[in-house]
Amino acid sequence: MESLIIQPTFNALTGVLEIPGDKSISHRSVMFGSIAKGVTKVTNFLPGDDCLSTISCFRKLGVVIEESENLLTIYGNGFDGLTEPDEILDVGNSGTTIRLLLGILAGRPFYSSLIGDRSIGKRPMTRVTEPLRQMGARIDGRNNGAFTPLSIRGGGLTPINYELPVASAQVKSALILAGLQAKGESTIIEPADTRDHTERMIRKFGGEIQRDNSVIRVKGDQKLIGTEIHVPGDISSAAFFLVAGAIVPGSEILLKNVGINPTRNGIIDVMNKMGADLEISHQPGDSFEPIGDMTIKASRLKGTVIEGDLIPKLIDEIPIIALLATQAEGKTVIKNAEELKVKETNRIDTVVQELTKLGARIEATDDGMIIYGGSSLTGGTVSSHGDHRIGMMLAIAAQICKGEVTLENPEAISISYPNFFTHLNILKK
Ligand code: S3P
Repeated sequence: MESLIIQPTFNALTGVLEIPGDKSISHRSVMFGSIAKGVTKVTNFLPGDDCLSTISCFRKLGVVIEESENLLTIYGNGFDGLTEPDEILDVGNSGTTIRLLLGILAGRPFYSSLIGDRSIGKRPMTRVTEPLRQMGARIDGRNNGAFTPLSIRGGGLTPINYELPVASAQVKSALILAGLQAKGESTIIEPADTRDHTERMIRKFGGEIQRDNSVIRVKGDQKLIGTEIHVPGDISSAAFFLVAGAIVPGSEILLKNVGINPTRNGIIDVMNKMGADLEISHQPGDSFEPIGDMTIKASRLKGTVIEGDLIPKLIDEIPIIALLATQAEGKTVIKNAEELKVKETNRIDTVVQELTKLGARIEATDDGMIIYGGSSLTGGTVSSHGDHRIGMMLAIAAQICKGEVTLENPEAISISYPNFFTHLNILKK
């Protein structure tokens, strides 16, 4: 797609948005639907490019998946129903697809090869390939399995007792998915809590998984049964409009049916600490994934420190939190966030580089960034670098710039939020 010229908003942002389905939960609904026995029906599935990559991989593995406008139907036939693919599995831009898929394929007694786009080709895979090899999977690939392209021949897994070296839900989930197919019980220890959608899915599909503080135990040889899933709105997508509402003077936005899983809601804590006028009303519902409506109004904000165990709870929101911090009084420091370097782009570099172009005062550090608040943003030409969250952060930044912003590579936004600009325009009317 060509560059997009984005005009600042001259009015407050107001209105109501129904936030699209959660990306992490949408991926998992396809994966669990595929490895369970029976039919799984998914509503509010996110039709973003990443989740479509997951659907395409599972179709190549022999699973029948029907898509209609409001419903995804997956005809699972258990782990044993997956068949050797006669095509390469292409995960596109999706780290969640490749890492969780490797966990599933580790237990399957056939050969698969996996590739992704240029960004995936730079993202570290040893964090999953190494423990999966320990369980018995035969994996090869570029740089001895550190990067794509990768090949895997699975089957005959032994359980693992593994302490994760990084707080990563993708790695944890890959090992849980392999553990479900191993002979015996696996133990996985997390250095900090990460999103627990995989654990919730297992229970929803009739399986068992235990958690005792940071220790997760999962038994092998489990049978999962197809079910009905309603995917909550994605808090990581809602984050862009939460920040827009907080920084565009006079704004008031209602975001409906947003997932507020406690392992994902770090942005709420941060916005409260920064003085945002944010109200959340919890929706009564089942225990699968908690959901709430969020009302955000523009307010004065102050700088803060974001660090430690909070980081995994808001890792994907750091680009938009950096923008928020440019409009706060005082300094915001983000620490212990070195994982940002191995996301879709090196998000320490891309956030600092692009916000600097718009006139923000922001510095990169080894494990995060320092943002000096109170800057007025100018406008200019910026790039998403092919990273959906950088693209959306810049489109929100453009709302408060003095001049227009030209955004290069805006198409990346369809990875997680295909109707992002439609929603932004609803609020600008
Ligand atoms: C995800 C986990 C996180 C997150 C990613 C989605 C998941 O990645 O950044 O967008 O669905 O499990 P890591 O596991 O690499 O931290």
